[in-house]
Amino acid sequence: MLVNNLNRYFLQNLMFLSKRLQSTQVSSNHYDIIVAGGGMVGTTLACTLGKNPKFADKKILLLESSKKSQWRLPETYSNRVSALNAATVDLLKDIDAWKHISGARFGPVKRMQVWDASSEAAITFENDGFEEPVAYIVENDLLLDAVRNELQNVNTVEVVYQAKVESCRPPREGEDEVNLGLENGTSYTCDLLLGCDGANSLVRKEMDFHHIACNYNQMGIVATLKLPEDSPNVVAWQRHLPDGGFLALLPLTQGFSSMVWSMNAKEAKRVASLSEDAFVDAINDALWKVQPRSGFVDQATQTFDNLIRFFNLPSTSMTQCPPKVLGCDIKSRAMFPLGIGHATNYVSKGVALVGDAAHRVHPLAGQGVNLGFGDVICLNKVLAEAVYAGSTLGNLQYLKNYETERQRFNVPMILVVHGLVQLYSTQFTPVVILRSLGLQATNALTPLKKFLMSQAAGLRSQQA
Ligand SMILES: Cc1cc2nc3c(=O)[nH]c(=O)nc-3n(C[C@H](O)[C@H](O)[C@H](O)COP(=O)(O)OP(=O)(O)OC[C@H]3O[C@@H](n4cnc5c(N)ncnc54)[C@H](O)[C@@H]3O)c2cc1C
Ligand SMILES: *[C@@H]1O[C@H](CO)[C@@H](O)[C@H](O)[C@H]1NC(C)=O
Repeated sequence: MLVNNLNRYFLQNLMFLSKRLQSTQVSSNHYDIIVAGGGMVGTTLACTLGKNPKFADKKILLLESSKKSQWRLPETYSNRVSALNAATVDLLKDIDAWKHISGARFGPVKRMQVWDASSEAAITFENDGFEEPVAYIVENDLLLDAVRNELQNVNTVEVVYQAKVESCRPPREGEDEVNLGLENGTSYTCDLLLGCDGANSLVRKEMDFHHIACNYNQMGIVATLKLPEDSPNVVAWQRHLPDGGFLALLPLTQGFSSMVWSMNAKEAKRVASLSEDAFVDAINDALWKVQPRSGFVDQATQTFDNLIRFFNLPSTSMTQCPPKVLGCDIKSRAMFPLGIGHATNYVSKGVALVGDAAHRVHPLAGQGVNLGFGDVICLNKVLAEAVYAGSTLGNLQYLKNYETERQRFNVPMILVVHGLVQLYSTQFTPVVILRSLGLQATNALTPLKKFLMSQAAGLRSQQA
């Protein structure tokens, strides 16, 4: 009898213990911050927060749906590259990730030259003395690997791959916890969920953020191009074409550049199936071919050019000719649909959207991922202020500061890029004249150009 009672006693205790264990298991699924999506932006965000001493006692989880891959720098360049601005490079330096990139490879852009095929009006961007690069061309995979390498040194951040977020729910009335469920049934709670899950963000949809989006019915064809090796390759070229598309060459290294060529979707299908020789010919045509111009446009730009010369301003004609493309590794050719999207709000209680999840732009200005990195810098600052003030991480007041500051920067940029896309999709003479004079004037008016460059560079001063 006594033995039986003792047994019962132990059994009950055991059951109690196991229940407690289960409940601690549930609470071990609680994190201060969960970052959903480990692309360039999400991974950099997790690393930045993890390395910030203000969050030293915070538990951070990074969930990425894709498989963990062992990556080694391949001999050939990847076709997916980004033009990083100075503020992005500073961020990567701050988290010690830049050394992995500069120790491997990147293409410094010393000058950017943009010109209009319908008028030859041109604008060039360069820093004084041609010294400091205006942008840095880095392969997306290399950037991701560099940040992942650094993330391994951060013990407050746990990274889980093959973890696809399937559902999430905002905090209930009077509560602070966000609930999140994975595809395989595992659930988590957190004080702050950061949606970094790209242009088709599930977090954005599940959390009912209002979102505006449209497709341009345009595709971007990317490829790695072979160029002559007789001179250093440090100029980025961008030519606006009569069909409303543009062709950009981004320097990787001597003899190689990465191409982005946008055009309407139907034409893209045709161009993407050309043989290697015909494809290279088509690229050279787009880069070099003299386009039929309206006499009016020519006259207007010529007159303006004379006027500028008269006032001793820098000339607006092309300062240098683009290179001739010699070949293309056809395996590197790929196509991406182009669109625009913007979430009306970036935050709600306990939730913030970051990167492409919040905003998507046309690659015309090469700003997409830089806007996302700008979000990272701002969010890191705002959350540190919240913690310093003793607030919870999901506090809407602080998150609103992030939203306001970033929308003030992102919205004009998105509108300008969208406006440019519209402006360049017309051959209507008055518009061609206007945009050509616009390019000429911007090129000649050094202060305005300086302003545009500082905008594109991410306004470092504002983020400091
Ligand atoms: C042709 C082209 C050229 C471009 N060129 C440039 C350029 O020169 N410069 C520039 O700045 N930008 C450029 N961009 C834009 C740039 O690629 C994007 O802005 C950038 O990739 C956005 O990064 P992200 O991390 O926000 O989103 P993504 O790169 O989309 O990453 C999202 C991540 O979240 C993961 N994920 C998605 N859903 C889930 C889920 N439910 N659960 C868990 N994980 C999930 C995905 O696997 C992915 O890893 C270009 C874009 C295109 C199409
Ligand atoms: C689901 O995936 C997560 C993340 O990979 C893992 O921790 C968990 O054990 C998985 N659960 C099941 C039931 O497979």
